[in-house]
Amino acid sequence: MSHKVFLKNQYKNILVTEIENEKGLNVCQIQINRPHAMNALNIELMGEIAEVLFAVDKDGDFGCSVITGNEKAFAAGADIKEMADANAVEIYYREMFASWDKIRNYKKPFIAAVSGFALGGGCELAMLCDMIVAAKCAKFGQPEVNLGVIPGAGGTQRLTRAVGKARAMEIILTGRMVEAGEMYEAGLITKISEDDKYLDDAVAIAKTICTKSPIAVQLAKESILRAFDTTVETGIEFERKNFYFLFASEDKMEGMKAFVEKRKPTWKGK
Ligand code: CAA
Repeated sequence: MSHKVFLKNQYKNILVTEIENEKGLNVCQIQINRPHAMNALNIELMGEIAEVLFAVDKDGDFGCSVITGNEKAFAAGADIKEMADANAVEIYYREMFASWDKIRNYKKPFIAAVSGFALGGGCELAMLCDMIVAAKCAKFGQPEVNLGVIPGAGGTQRLTRAVGKARAMEIILTGRMVEAGEMYEAGLITKISEDDKYLDDAVAIAKTICTKSPIAVQLAKESILRAFDTTVETGIEFERKNFYFLFASEDKMEGMKAFVEKRKPTWKGK
């Protein structure tokens, strides 16, 4: 069954494009498309992103995804209007983070290309990605304390792991906006780009990843993410199992043979 069908779908809140990559697998680009609401993330929108990424994971033509917004906003947070009237029980039954949990478990790399505001859930969505490429003009922050709540999509955990307790405390407890340059220095961002180059730079990284062995890339991602959930000892054990496992792949045989024969490898992803 072809999974390409999702590219023809008309989503309400996102635009999906297939970026051809002559040197490797293709890149799926997702653009958050609620400009009237500063790309606020409602439950429907997050469901659409999860649906596309699920299809990408299953489609051998794709190696990587990039998610972006527009120049003004990557996303200004979870949709406050959708949550404003909800009480605790209603918000619990709504399971507003169900799609976030699915996205967390997908196997193919997922890169955020950020310009403008990445606030609250917007910052958390960027941090849910495997890398962040940001324009110099991007502004990050976790302003939930201004609304009488706290980050709810992983912000207290992922920001703290990325930038350390000292800075995470200050950013989350004051709710201030943080310039991309400061976040780059703090270690949250992979690459900082000129304001008109952030998307090109993110796609370029995605395309490079797409020239590598797909199975090796996925297991490398899985192993790196394990570093956040476990001790170094257990993480190394996990890495080693994945390393040994790859010796059962055709890609390992091909990759090493190609090196010895001084030619480019042809990957199969198996
Ligand atoms: N949810 C819903 N609507 C939002 C929104 C959000 N997070 N952010 C902006 N909008 C809407 C505004 O209400 C406004 O709509 P109307 O035209 O209908 O009034 C429109 O987008 C444009 O926004 P502004 O007029 O406010 O634009 P601005 O340029 O003056 O300010 C901004 C931009 C600084 C980003 C400001 O919109 C803002 O502070 N937004 C809210 C940021 C925030 O608090 N995010 C955290 C949300 S809670 C959360 O994310 C919880 C979690 O952890 C999961």
